[in-house]
Amino acid sequence: MSVKTDFLVIGSGIAGLSFALKAAQHGKVTIITKSNEDESNTKYAQGGIAAVLPDSSGDSREKHIQDTLICGAGLCNEKVVRIVVNESEARIAELVKWGAEFDKDKTGHYDLAREGGHSEHRVLHHKDITGLEIERKLLQQIHNHPNITIHTHLFAVDIITQHHLGAIVKRSTPGITCYGAYVLDTRTGKINTMLAKIIVMATGGAGHVYKTTTNPVIATGDGIAMAYRAMAKVNGMEFIQFHPTALYKPGENPSFLISEAVRGFGAVLRTTDDKEFMQNYDERGSLAPRDIVARAIDSEMKKRGDDFVWLDCRHLNIEKFKEHFLTIYAKCLSIGIDIAKECIPVAPAQHYLCGGIQVDENACSSIRNLYAVGECSSTGLHGANRLASNSLLEAVVFSHRAYLHASSMVTEISYREDIPDWSTVTSRQSAELVLITQSRKELQEIMSSYVGIFRSDMRLKRALERLRLLYLETEELYEQWELSPKLCELRNLINVAYLIVKAATARTENCGLHYNVDN
Ligand code: FAD
Ligand code: SIN
Repeated sequence: MSVKTDFLVIGSGIAGLSFALKAAQHGKVTIITKSNEDESNTKYAQGGIAAVLPDSSGDSREKHIQDTLICGAGLCNEKVVRIVVNESEARIAELVKWGAEFDKDKTGHYDLAREGGHSEHRVLHHKDITGLEIERKLLQQIHNHPNITIHTHLFAVDIITQHHLGAIVKRSTPGITCYGAYVLDTRTGKINTMLAKIIVMATGGAGHVYKTTTNPVIATGDGIAMAYRAMAKVNGMEFIQFHPTALYKPGENPSFLISEAVRGFGAVLRTTDDKEFMQNYDERGSLAPRDIVARAIDSEMKKRGDDFVWLDCRHLNIEKFKEHFLTIYAKCLSIGIDIAKECIPVAPAQHYLCGGIQVDENACSSIRNLYAVGECSSTGLHGANRLASNSLLEAVVFSHRAYLHASSMVTEISYREDIPDWSTVTSRQSAELVLITQSRKELQEIMSSYVGIFRSDMRLKRALERLRLLYLETEELYEQWELSPKLCELRNLINVAYLIVKAATARTENCGLHYNVDN
């Protein structure tokens, strides 16, 4: 099957959906997504979306800018930071127009939360299910739009460039152009060709490179791997954000998040012998930026041989807590923890990828007609460490900028008609899926052991050697077996892991989320 569409959006999280809603004024939009339509990192966002609005008393855009720059540890692109913060008010207004509701206090003002690294309360939220609220309201708008079609269970395998027409394409080749994508229908096993004038990568993060992550299973770095294979520039991959407070519950994967806003509400971290420790690491205590808190927790756990630390909410107003954090309260209760009486066991877990497909201020990648938005992109906003709740904001700001740019280009682009169908000549049915599942586990073990919160030269070297073997074995399977989402994901995870290790090895100073004990 061959499909033609003006805009092909790969991914149905906040970035892809908000782009689609706007682009649909200028042409036919096709969204493909590999799972159910709402399955995404977006759906699980708890804390909220950071913004400075006219009624944010005591706060200012300049404070938000400075907090973002400080958190990014000197590596943010200041121009991009200013763009994002300055455009936040307009993008929040759009989310509200599309139906997203953010909690207000009794006086009718937004009830703003605070998270690590923020000098003020500035996080808009919908209880502790902000992402779910945004995702469902965006999807409602998408369903009602005559120019948008959303296809679920379609897995983008590779984007199409001159390479698929037989040209030799190198990273230095000028004018690499994207013409669409090869897409696997996970229900029929067929691979379709989707041709588009504009292709938008909105595939989210890569949490499942690691053994423990807060990300849902869709987060396998597919978009970054696809773009990298097509010779796009990728940036900042060493900056993996570990959230300090994922619920410690062995066997549960993904890990359930205990929002940083809980610490913003007054919860305190303690070691298992009941001692507060964050002041020993940073004067901002439990609300220091995430890199600092995650490293502190990791150090305390290692010192004591513990698997977790405590998050203490016992002194808080539990009725008020329940009003804001009902999902977290209910989750804890469901596993026998009454937070009014007991502490919550927490440990760091992979949470966010600061790097990704390198884009400019209009979300253009280094490949013509290919845009990247949301977590799969690297805009320069986050630098070496993302400020909490800046991710949803970045997604809407850059989707808007991508839309402005792409809609001005779309009329000048024609479909490429001579794209060959996907070749399936050598594919045979995979007899031993255990080879895939086992390799995925090995990969996660390698990355968690050697490329986690603390790194060393030896660990990075070892990781690279182990990854090489996994890479060779997986490429062999890829050559021989019929394509499946599991095989494609494994290949993508290995690709992304390689990019992380290479970037971590190349960075010789410690900065933000990258900490090598030998630097
Ligand atoms: P996603 O929302 O992850 O969407 C990616 C989409 O791409 C999915 O639909 C997926 O199925 C699809 N996809 C992936 N690969 C393919 C493929 N090969 N083919 C087809 N489709 C594909 N950020 C904040 O700012 N505030 C918060 O409070 C916050 N809380 C968070 C809590 C949790 C538990 C998590 C995991 C993240 C949180 N974040 C938060 C981060 C934020 O949610 C994400 O960075 C953001 O939602 C990413 O949006 P996105 O649209 O880029 O990607
Ligand atoms: C959280 O609620 O702690 C997550 C916020 C974020 O990742 O930005």
